[in-house]
Amino acid sequence: MKHKKQIVVIASLALVVTFIQCSKAFEKVDEASASVRASESVNSEKNKSLIADGKQIFRFDTFGDEDFWSGLLHIDKAILGNNNGGFGPGVSPIDALNIGLKVDVEALTPEVIAGVESGDIKLNDPATTLALLKLNAVVGVKGNFSNEGALQTIGITCAVCHSTVDNSYATGIGKRLDGWPNRDLDVGGIISLTDNALPIANMLHVSEPTLRNVLDLWGPGKFSAVLFMDGKAFNTETGNVAANLIPAAFGLKNIELTTYTGWGNISYWNAFVANLEMHGKGNFSDPRLNDPKYPIAVENGFYNVMNNPDLITSKLPALRAYQHSIDAPKPPNDSYDHGAAGRGKAIFLTKAQCATCHPLPLLADNKLHSAIELGIDNFEASRSPEGKYRTTPLGGLFARTKGGFYHDGQFATLRDVINHYNDHRSLNLTTSEKRDLEEYLKSL
Ligand code: HEC
Ligand code: HEC
Repeated sequence: MKHKKQIVVIASLALVVTFIQCSKAFEKVDEASASVRASESVNSEKNKSLIADGKQIFRFDTFGDEDFWSGLLHIDKAILGNNNGGFGPGVSPIDALNIGLKVDVEALTPEVIAGVESGDIKLNDPATTLALLKLNAVVGVKGNFSNEGALQTIGITCAVCHSTVDNSYATGIGKRLDGWPNRDLDVGGIISLTDNALPIANMLHVSEPTLRNVLDLWGPGKFSAVLFMDGKAFNTETGNVAANLIPAAFGLKNIELTTYTGWGNISYWNAFVANLEMHGKGNFSDPRLNDPKYPIAVENGFYNVMNNPDLITSKLPALRAYQHSIDAPKPPNDSYDHGAAGRGKAIFLTKAQCATCHPLPLLADNKLHSAIELGIDNFEASRSPEGKYRTTPLGGLFARTKGGFYHDGQFATLRDVINHYNDHRSLNLTTSEKRDLEEYLKSL
């Protein structure tokens, strides 16, 4: 009996001890989770400020590329025109809008808006472009002014190609839409404003008229990044000018391979563009470019670029954080047939086999596919390091219908894309299945 009592006492003591230890442990867990929460919120604060920095960089940072766009190409003088100390007719706001540049309405002062509306401020006068540049209102074009207010240099930012506006004030004038490709932008036309094309023509080993012809053939919404590596201006398989559509810079979170042909991850490519295409001043190295396949890159040492100070590398984490924070936009509710889109989703996932390469939720498999698999020409793949095409994530397709689909816009419409897959992969889709599938694509 006594023995039993002792056992009970010991047992209950043990229980009490365990309870106390447990509650201490709970306290510890609580403390631990509180500190996790605290560090999470510090992290998210850090992340928020990283994203905010990235947004500024994406919109306004030229990485010192003024030496190229002004120093070499004299684009500042082309904007000014004869009457303002430059050359040629100058670039009025109307000209700027015609070559696809966009104006950020939120950067305009009430006085400027009133002046434009009363007609006191002329949209056909290059001097007005200067006023807009002073306000930082021309998306992706940064003007640097002297204390006296004279334009000294201009540079370009990521936003010139990878942002547009919502046209809420007028066509080409509205609120910024970062990440939406500017499919109106005539990049070739902008470069062609130069009075000094010879250094670029020489770099590519072509005559100046040949260079200007190629730039003219690119057309709106297109640019050729690899031209400045391999010197190939034309697609050797189709004979068409080789230029790619400016892609979306939204919906790229969890997309490990960037560019149409998977050159590398997002920070790799951001550094590539900032250094080698925008001609900003940073450090960049990629031994893959030191290859006879890329004669222009080899001759110019693009495989190993060094600048002091390096104005690019330290900005890459913020730039990536901002890009990853931009989700693919959702199409307007009334822009597609919801019933048909629902049926189309089922077709996308099954009979049409789209999800084998475009699985949900990313609508991309983070993989490369051969030209043969896709049933298209091999040119753009063959000039990339991996020799294949990357699956494009399909979110926000509606925001990039202009200029067509696939890297070079070879399919004009979504229906053309569907017909191509239907033929190439022998899908036997009926007309109504194709229609439903198209409505689903419009809903993404
Ligand atoms: C002159 C226009 C232009 C400018 C300026 C420009 N880009 Fe691009 N960008 C393109 C084009 C064209 C491609 C497609 C490249 C390819 O695959 O051939 C591209 C591709 C990309 C991609 C890959 C998207 C994907 O789907 O994988 C990212 C990311 C990107 N750019 C970010 C940037 C950043 C960041 C900057 C500024 C540092 C920048 N770009 C400046 C035209 C531009
Ligand atoms: C074998 C893998 C594969 C399959 C299967 C596939 N796709 Fe693709 N898809 C790709 C690749 C790779 C690209 C990029 C091609 C390029 O840019 O040249 C692409 C591009 C696209 C584009 C163009 C996106 C843009 O912005 O240019 C659309 C639209 C598309 N696919 C829809 C579909 C649909 C619909 C199906 C099913 C009928 C499908 N895909 C099946 C791999 C695939």
